[in-house]
Amino acid sequence: MNGDGVAAVPERAIPGGKTRDYKGLIKRGSTIADTGSRRPWRAGKRLRILRRPPLNRFPRPVPSALFTPLRLRGLELANRIVISPMCQYSATAGSADDWHLIHLGHLALGGAALLCVEATAVEAAGRITPGCLGLYSDANEASLERVVRTVRARSPIKLAVQLGHAGRKASSEVPWRGGRLIPAYRGGWRPVAPSALPHLPGEAAPEALDREGIERIRAAFAASASRAARLGFDALELHAAHGYLLHEFLSPVANRRDDAYGGALENRMRFPLEVFDAVRAAWPSDRPLGMRVSATDWVTGGWDLEQCVVFARELARRGCDWIDCSSGGVSPLQEIPLGPGYQVPFSRRIRAETGVRTIAVGLITEPQQAEAIVANGEADMVALGRAMLYDPRWAWHAAAALGATAHAPEQYWRCPPRAAGRVFGDTPIGMR
Ligand SMILES: Cc1cc2nc3c(=O)[nH]c(=O)nc-3n(C[C@H](O)[C@H](O)[C@H](O)COP(=O)(O)O)c2cc1C
Repeated sequence: MNGDGVAAVPERAIPGGKTRDYKGLIKRGSTIADTGSRRPWRAGKRLRILRRPPLNRFPRPVPSALFTPLRLRGLELANRIVISPMCQYSATAGSADDWHLIHLGHLALGGAALLCVEATAVEAAGRITPGCLGLYSDANEASLERVVRTVRARSPIKLAVQLGHAGRKASSEVPWRGGRLIPAYRGGWRPVAPSALPHLPGEAAPEALDREGIERIRAAFAASASRAARLGFDALELHAAHGYLLHEFLSPVANRRDDAYGGALENRMRFPLEVFDAVRAAWPSDRPLGMRVSATDWVTGGWDLEQCVVFARELARRGCDWIDCSSGGVSPLQEIPLGPGYQVPFSRRIRAETGVRTIAVGLITEPQQAEAIVANGEADMVALGRAMLYDPRWAWHAAAALGATAHAPEQYWRCPPRAAGRVFGDTPIGMR
């Protein structure tokens, strides 16, 4: 490190008596010197050697927590940034198409460590909308194989998929058509749920699952996990949040059963825990498996953080690798105090009380905010949804702001502005 905080980069010998500096510029008989000018040739200076200045004049005394690698079983994550699962409502009969390729493909290039594919249904009736992705047929599997293979070939990002079942919120219109329940006479289907209680007043009631139905869906989760393993996904997340089937079993708002799957907390947790065990058994032991929860229903008398801590402890005991801490979705009466990082306290408490790794999610938008969440031990990872759609290079910008580095494809190595310093690390570029 020289006096200006510029990291000294060793020259590399190349054949023919030339040398190559870290930018890959070939020079003969000249001395490397930083001209201090962005365009030295315009200023009439002899050397054409460009050095990206470091982001900060003085190096950060502490490395970024957000950009510290994390190991989950056999999976090594380059940093703590997760792209949150986000439904695209663009599949046909559960199968991915070019939209998924382009959507996941471009998100894969922005330097996050883990990209989680949207809620993917374990049976056709478990799709939220007719456009939701599924992993219940050979055709579904083949369609995702193309997406996974293409992303893998072009990006080192790790891939997860979120498996879920929409329960009583199935058979909905896509959001841009209003998101309402689609009745059978308009091509919808009858949703299933723990109890025959509609999500919204006035809606047709879902069918309450009997034992056979419960067993069918548990087996469907395991079968989809086997398909995900075959596809080479690095990690799996089970969707037990947002008012979908597993959450419906947990919450007294949606679960009024009087058998072994309803009533006391132990009974309401039974089906989600059985699903976890079945998936864990079907999923390779060296690959991590996490669960997304709604930590609270935000309604009096509903599922709450106290119960969620008990659930998380049970999951941790069974080998759950992370709890992804979201909230809400099961009741139209919910009152959510929205604000930056409003769900982070759930992650902090679940992590502190159970020792399980957590993902914080929800209105995390700023690099310093994300850095503080990880550095303060409030979560092990942060997931971003909307901010990633708005700015798929969010992780690059965060790395630049925090004096860290993030991965970028070689084709883009020339793009960082001066203020971003060496955000992509050592990126030798040569041209003649
Ligand atoms: C378009 C869109 C689709 C979403 N689909 C899913 C999904 O498939 N599974 C899920 O668990 N959450 C889903 N969510 C919720 C996000 O994963 C995330 O938890 C939420 O948007 C809050 O994070 P944010 O403030 O960073 O966007 C979706 C959110 C959006 C905006």
